[in-house]
Amino acid sequence: MSVTANQCWWNLTVKKHLLNLDELTQSNIHSLLDKAKHYEQHGITPHTKKCLVASLFYENSTRTTASFEIAAKGLGFDVLNFSLDNSSLSKGESIADTTKAFIAMGVDAIIMRHKSERLIFDLKEAFGSDCSFINAGSGATAHPTQALLDLYTLRELGTPLENLNVALVGDLKHSRVVRSLIKLFGKMGLYNYRLVSPPEFSLEGANSSMVVSNLAEGLVGADVVIALRVQKERFIEGERLDLKAYQNSYCLRESIIEQCCPNAKIMHPGPMNRGVEIDSELADGPRSLIFKQVRNGVLVRAAILDSIVDGK
Ligand code: NCD
Repeated sequence: MSVTANQCWWNLTVKKHLLNLDELTQSNIHSLLDKAKHYEQHGITPHTKKCLVASLFYENSTRTTASFEIAAKGLGFDVLNFSLDNSSLSKGESIADTTKAFIAMGVDAIIMRHKSERLIFDLKEAFGSDCSFINAGSGATAHPTQALLDLYTLRELGTPLENLNVALVGDLKHSRVVRSLIKLFGKMGLYNYRLVSPPEFSLEGANSSMVVSNLAEGLVGADVVIALRVQKERFIEGERLDLKAYQNSYCLRESIIEQCCPNAKIMHPGPMNRGVEIDSELADGPRSLIFKQVRNGVLVRAAILDSIVDGK
């Protein structure tokens, strides 16, 4: 198929986007996860439409970029992996101009990560009729594709989501994963969760009945414990961490899990700081779903790309 500048490879009049989960209903979410399940059972097979997908990551990433690339290639899409180090960013080009240039070259979907909470919304407002936008992490507020892959991992446990008891543990204050997960939990009727963190890392605006600062208390009865990384790169001026004290009080270890929630599974979006929020025995042990999450990330991101290209 030949490509003309300024023209999409597939011909949709209305572009679809995934910015912060508000765009998805419970039934959309189940369909996405069902599609991911289909890929798990039958493999990711080429889509009937062609598509050129570009990754624009202004923050570091390993599994999100890699899994989007593997997913897109599995669907038979072309992937433009754009290295910021060699880009015109260093010549002072604005992100809006980079986006316009990509669209002019025929990019159909942009997968973006940026420290700004607003940027992807503004780009979608400006260019959303020419190109789909997928949020791969915006500031500390949203990481919808991570939340969806975590939800897939939870759904796979076989317990109805509304019956699951989940403990979210760690640096919640700086976590976009937690914010997106909570939004998703609300949509899916999963209300039985606790937010476990030191008071200085608690989630702003959280329902106080769900907030717990003592680790053992927060873990009691959990079916799933989701550990979150201490995100030092998001600390603002004046924020400090007493690493030793944090490790002593909040590092997840087999012994405390055995004592408080012996049947619990363990999740972590990665990257892990082993020995800080989770120890290796737990991360690599039989309860860990951490590398399953990584695998599920490819399936769920393929389902997201597929539904965006299909416009549904
Ligand atoms: C998360 C992120 O970038 O917010 N990681 C990820 O996408 N796998 C969580 C984190 O960085 O701790």
